Amino acid sequence: MTMSTENNPVPENAEGQDVLIADHRYDGIREYDNPMPFWWSAIFWATIVFSLVYYVGFFFMDFVDDYQDDLNQSMSDLEAVRAAWEKEHPQITIDEASLAAVADDPSKVEEGKALFVAQCAACHGPEGQGLIGPNMTDQYWIHGGTNVDIYNTITNGVLDKGMPPWEAVYTVDQRASLVAFIRSIQGTNPAGAKEPQGDLVEPTS
Ligand code: HEC
Repeated sequence: MTMSTENNPVPENAEGQDVLIADHRYDGIREYDNPMPFWWSAIFWATIVFSLVYYVGFFFMDFVDDYQDDLNQSMSDLEAVRAAWEKEHPQITIDEASLAAVADDPSKVEEGKALFVAQCAACHGPEGQGLIGPNMTDQYWIHGGTNVDIYNTITNGVLDKGMPPWEAVYTVDQRASLVAFIRSIQGTNPAGAKEPQGDLVEPTS
């Protein structure tokens, strides 16, 4: 910006574009009207437009994610990573004793119950009393009644008899929890229990 006093003629700037502000004079100091470059003004207006769009999107129309949205997204990403990891790295080895230990853990039984209600109750009844699928509360088993037998039936299913395999759906630990839940309802004899199917298997533990 070039300054000038009243006595000096005001030169045009190098580009010959600037205009002297005629009615603007302080202590003899005068000023050019030096417009902001177009690119600068464009960015300035763009920030204002952006702020309005963002404000509306954030507070009213919900197309801008807030902290909670981001957190939920991250948590479900984390959950997926964790589930994949657990699938690759099961927390237990499958044998009678370790499945029995899972069955002794009430929190695992609860977890198994939730899974059972979600996916198994449609065929085995919400109390395991049996519907299309057999009764889970009696001591009769078609495919064996040890913990490992039950685990294997859940894992591999019996496709030609209508029992789906759950290996791809539930992790090793989740299937172990399902065994734990089935163990916990042994002998409960719920209303409407389906007649026994298979062979009598005396409980070992
Ligand atoms: C679409 C129906 C259906 C669903 C869903 C289903 N089952 Fe089954 N299940 C069956 C049928 C039918 C059988 C009997 C198979 C046979 O006759 O060989 C069976 C058998 C079983 C057996 C073996 C019982 C025995 O006497 O040996 C177990 C254990 C079992 N299911 C557990 C589960 C669990 C746990 C789930 C949920 C994760 C589940 N099932 C979901 C239909 C189903």
